[in-house]
Amino acid sequence: MRVFLASIPLEGAKVVVVGGGEPALAKLRLFLNSPADLVWFTPDGAPAALETPPAAPTPNARLPDAADLRGARMVFIALSDIALARRIAEAARKAGAQANIVDQPAFSDFHTPALIDRDDVVVGVATGGNAPILARDLRSRIEAVLPQGVASVAQLAGELRGAVKDAIPDFLARRRFWEKAFRSPAADLAADGRMAEARREMVRLLNVASAPRDEADQGIVHIVGAGPGDPELLTLKALRALQDADVIIHDKLVSAEVLDRARRDARRIYVGKTRGDHSVPQDQIEQLIIEEARAGHRVVRLKGGDPFVFGRGGEELEAVRAAGIEAIVVPGVTAALACAASTGLPLTHRDHAQAVTFVTGQPKPGGQAADWARLAAPNHTLAVYMGAGQAAEIASNLIAAGRDGATPVAVVENGSRPDQRTLKGRLDDLAALVARMDLTGPALLFIGETAALAVASDERALIEAAA
Ligand SMILES: C[S@@+](CC[C@H](N)C(=O)[O-])C[C@H]1O[C@@H](n2cnc3c(N)ncnc32)[C@H](O)[C@@H]1O
Repeated sequence: MRVFLASIPLEGAKVVVVGGGEPALAKLRLFLNSPADLVWFTPDGAPAALETPPAAPTPNARLPDAADLRGARMVFIALSDIALARRIAEAARKAGAQANIVDQPAFSDFHTPALIDRDDVVVGVATGGNAPILARDLRSRIEAVLPQGVASVAQLAGELRGAVKDAIPDFLARRRFWEKAFRSPAADLAADGRMAEARREMVRLLNVASAPRDEADQGIVHIVGAGPGDPELLTLKALRALQDADVIIHDKLVSAEVLDRARRDARRIYVGKTRGDHSVPQDQIEQLIIEEARAGHRVVRLKGGDPFVFGRGGEELEAVRAAGIEAIVVPGVTAALACAASTGLPLTHRDHAQAVTFVTGQPKPGGQAADWARLAAPNHTLAVYMGAGQAAEIASNLIAAGRDGATPVAVVENGSRPDQRTLKGRLDDLAALVARMDLTGPALLFIGETAALAVASDERALIEAAA
């Protein structure tokens, strides 16, 4: 270790920033949400009002003198005149402060690590001033796996610290409790902002830990949207849940590339269904999720797209809650959004579509079919899920209800995946278009004026060839 990272309490600490350019503003922004007493000098000229952060202190348009520097903990100097910056640094040291000349590690008493600021939880990456860009790159990777709400977990731990100490006096037993607690549903709930539930769960854990007889730990279920297939379309929350999972129960629509991002030693259970072939009945899937959670596992129920868009996520959530198990739902990019984005088809458009409807072409057996007559209005985009097998019927219902047969349509198969295909045509030719595509992957039908704006696969090939 060539450098040491220490944390400096900022309550009441005087922090001085010298400079009016962007590097000085970057330092100012670091401290704006902190309890530090921030003082700002702009001998090189203050930035324009629009560039100045609203919460910034009023700048002093002069050099700081010895009295200004007295009592400061840290002085940041961001001036292009390095000789002047070094003189200010010297004066800061004489006043008892530590000085940092921005981008001049050799002349600084400390370097600024790349920081992730989550309130009480702060993560720093330092490279001894040698490779700040590497530090920033590492920071963004850590940021991707650090829950936004991690500070709430720390806050909850802070609240219960005394109670835990009283209930578990033995140091090692207490350490084991905290290790377990930070991997428990209580921590997940706190990170999700559900503080009351998190507190209840943490107290329950504490009661269990301090009771003479151990009771089995309960797991948690994350119902996670895997997106349409492209792993880059996973949300950060989904990625974190996948990397923390003990068991992943997944569907046919979840791509191998998405599963590759999951924790290597997580157990994977495939409960995929193909159309008409319900390989694992829904009630058995729900039972499986509940059993795995009751065995104390962190269960990820991973579903293609978004769990609440034609995904039966709602039923699974009800079942898990009815079993008294904590559940967190993580949304995903639904197929209509992904297919629209990757083909350049705007779902709404000021000139062509004032509304968009996500509709299923395949109601549950014996269930209510979509009211196509109500969906036949012009200037309206329909994104039809599970509609390829019913294309002829959907088109004739819409035309019978008054939709023009010449209305543009687009069919997108395997949206967002490397083998994506898009074909365009007219509503009165939709069934033939679908037949011509000889679909083997999931496909979405778009019906409406905006479908004319989609880039079809053959057009894409032409554009790519010309580039
Ligand atoms: C049971 S629904 C699941 C929808 C999923 N929950 C979502 O939000 O995207 C399955 C249908 O979604 C559509 N779909 C899912 N992924 C797709 C993709 N990558 N490309 C095109 N359509 C897709 C197809 O219409 C498929 O028949």
